[in-house]
Amino acid sequence: MKAAVIGLGVIGKVHIGVLKELGIPLAAVCDVDEDKFSLAPDAAHYTDYLKLLEAEKPTVVHVCTPHYLHADMVVSCLERGVNVLCEKPLCIRAEDVPRILAAEARSGAQLGVCLQNRYNEANIYVKEFLKTHRAEGGIGTVAWYRDAAYYASGAWRGKWETEGGGVLINQALHTLDLMQWFLGEPQFVTASLSTLTLGGVIEVEDTAAALFTGGAEFSFFATNGSRAQFPVEITLKTDAGVVKLLPDAVLLDGKAKKFKSNGRLFGKYCYGTGHERLIADFYDCVRTGRKFAIDGTEGAKVVKLILAAYRSGGNKTAI
Ligand SMILES: NC(=O)c1ccc[n+]([C@@H]2O[C@H](COP(=O)([O-])OP(=O)(O)OC[C@H]3O[C@@H](n4cnc5c(N)ncnc54)[C@H](O)[C@@H]3O)[C@@H](O)[C@H]2O)c1
Repeated sequence: MKAAVIGLGVIGKVHIGVLKELGIPLAAVCDVDEDKFSLAPDAAHYTDYLKLLEAEKPTVVHVCTPHYLHADMVVSCLERGVNVLCEKPLCIRAEDVPRILAAEARSGAQLGVCLQNRYNEANIYVKEFLKTHRAEGGIGTVAWYRDAAYYASGAWRGKWETEGGGVLINQALHTLDLMQWFLGEPQFVTASLSTLTLGGVIEVEDTAAALFTGGAEFSFFATNGSRAQFPVEITLKTDAGVVKLLPDAVLLDGKAKKFKSNGRLFGKYCYGTGHERLIADFYDCVRTGRKFAIDGTEGAKVVKLILAAYRSGGNKTAI
């Protein structure tokens, strides 16, 4: 196993920490900012990821760069038969979805998308619960806080061209992914976006409200303009009563089932503890040839929901 990480920022550090924990050797790293190489002093250093791919021929590449770079980097890896684990979102433009899926289909290598919350115990419990219970609908809420200093921490943040959107495509993506993972894929969305607290700081939305309908029915509210960082909440109405999901607990009709977090935190609390299990699972798939569950098609589902919400402009829009 020869691992390489592209992008040594906030989340690249998490991936490097997990690789170390799993005992997987980090052969090479790439960043355009050479100061970041101090994170991996013993690995080979590159500022051009294509040169890394040519020279190192890694088994697995971790794409941990800003959103607008994901599609090209993923396709470059797949075209060279290199397994690639891409941080979320898989891509930010509709036209990138088919070319990524085509490259994946042609490649002998695997593509995985880092939707690590699918590995949380409470979420797995609800996914299993819904195999034997019918859900009528749900609501998901992400009320977090991001200020001007956060957006100043990376030139790519807060811009349509490079982040591809605001709270929906970045902070709330995991929760929206869980909504569709639990309830299925809706056909339509009616969404309104606003910039309530970060006007003049970001050009993208800091707040979004959306109603997803057709097939799966759920509403969604997300904001980066909250006064504090609140726990994410998902509430589902099922034939067995109301199921409420909190980060480490599930309430079924008010009765709590608590889950001890089954992993270590490698980054911020809000990333959860799923990275280690997801990365370990991806490497196991590469080793054994088993198909990794969160492949290109799975990773693209939430991107399609978000891009349709961005197109909606308050009107019912096909996904
Ligand atoms: N799964 C999660 O919970 C989670 C959490 C945080 C971030 N992320 C995702 O991780 C990605 C990176 O986010 P971040 O917060 O680490 O950003 P960051 O700005 O902290 O880091 C990005 C790094 O990529 C480098 N970079 C930029 N262009 C490059 C290029 N062409 N080649 C090589 N390196 C390049 C930058 O110099 C920087 O070091 C984003 O897609 C983000 O959404 C996921």
